[in-house]
Amino acid sequence: MASTVLITGCSSGIGAAAVRRFAEHGWNVAATLRNPAKVHFEHAAGCVEAFALDVTDARAVDAAVAATLKRFGQIDVVMNVAGYGLFGPFETATAEAIQREFDTNVGGVFAVTRAVLPHLRERRSGVIINVASLTGLVAMPLYSIYAASKFAVVGFSESLSHELAAFGIRVKVFAPGAVATNFSGSSLARTFDGDGGPYADAIRKALAAFEANRAAGGSASSPEQVAQALYEAATDGSAQVLYVTGDDAHAVLKARHEMGEEALLAGVRQRFGLAG
Ligand SMILES: NC(=O)c1ccc[n+]([C@@H]2O[C@H](COP(=O)([O-])OP(=O)(O)OC[C@H]3O[C@@H](n4cnc5c(N)ncnc54)[C@H](OP(=O)(O)O)[C@@H]3O)[C@@H](O)[C@H]2O)c1
Repeated sequence: MASTVLITGCSSGIGAAAVRRFAEHGWNVAATLRNPAKVHFEHAAGCVEAFALDVTDARAVDAAVAATLKRFGQIDVVMNVAGYGLFGPFETATAEAIQREFDTNVGGVFAVTRAVLPHLRERRSGVIINVASLTGLVAMPLYSIYAASKFAVVGFSESLSHELAAFGIRVKVFAPGAVATNFSGSSLARTFDGDGGPYADAIRKALAAFEANRAAGGSASSPEQVAQALYEAATDGSAQVLYVTGDDAHAVLKARHEMGEEALLAGVRQRFGLAG
């Protein structure tokens, strides 16, 4: 019997690439996304079935898990990919914008995990992979709420990996560096209107730093590279919890290790043209 993976956030980017990669390897794929009419998944060796799922809707999460079990009989791997960025000064972020970010990036991971756990626990097997970010390990300026959400996913995953080990369930968390997807386009919300008032200068400098990085050819991974790493993590049989992907992410963590925390943070401020 083919293995089954349930993936969230499959309309584009990393989620869509993961659907293709698992299907190529003959898996059954429950490809969940907010609007299934938006995407047509090519059936490769495996069987891909799209299910409607907004991860902020707990009832829809339960329904998608139930529909997957009905269709494929079991779930072996669960991959929480859905998420979006929130850019801008903390002071300009409304309570609603913060709530929405956490409901999606953190609450969505909780809801999907909670919905699949009874099934995985009964079978005493399964892998849960949560896509956090390098920003869940090292925070860049003007991403405080996004960073908080991704630090939360990293901490949640690590703690959960301990408590589920006894049930044969492995929990893993991904910290990709930059990935060439819609993330910095349609998936990047802003906390501020206009130029950001007292933060206008910081915003301008941060955007210029991101642009300079892009123009310099940046070292963004492709979504296919991340999908391959996700597939390998799902099937490596290891107890490894944290997976860092991308040359940029490895370079930042190496710099932290070699320079120390304080020098790294000073370097970040310098790169973004920020005082202190
Ligand atoms: N790209 C990067 O540089 C990067 C780096 C590190 C980590 N990540 C993380 O990787 C994940 C995937 O992002 P991506 O880079 O592949 O960008 P993407 O192509 O924009 O994909 C984001 C996906 O999340 C979905 N989504 C957003 N809110 C949702 C909700 N409430 N319910 C269900 N799905 C929802 C989007 O669906 P819709 O089409 O319906 O909006 C889309 O499918 C995110 O968690 C992101 O934080 C990205």
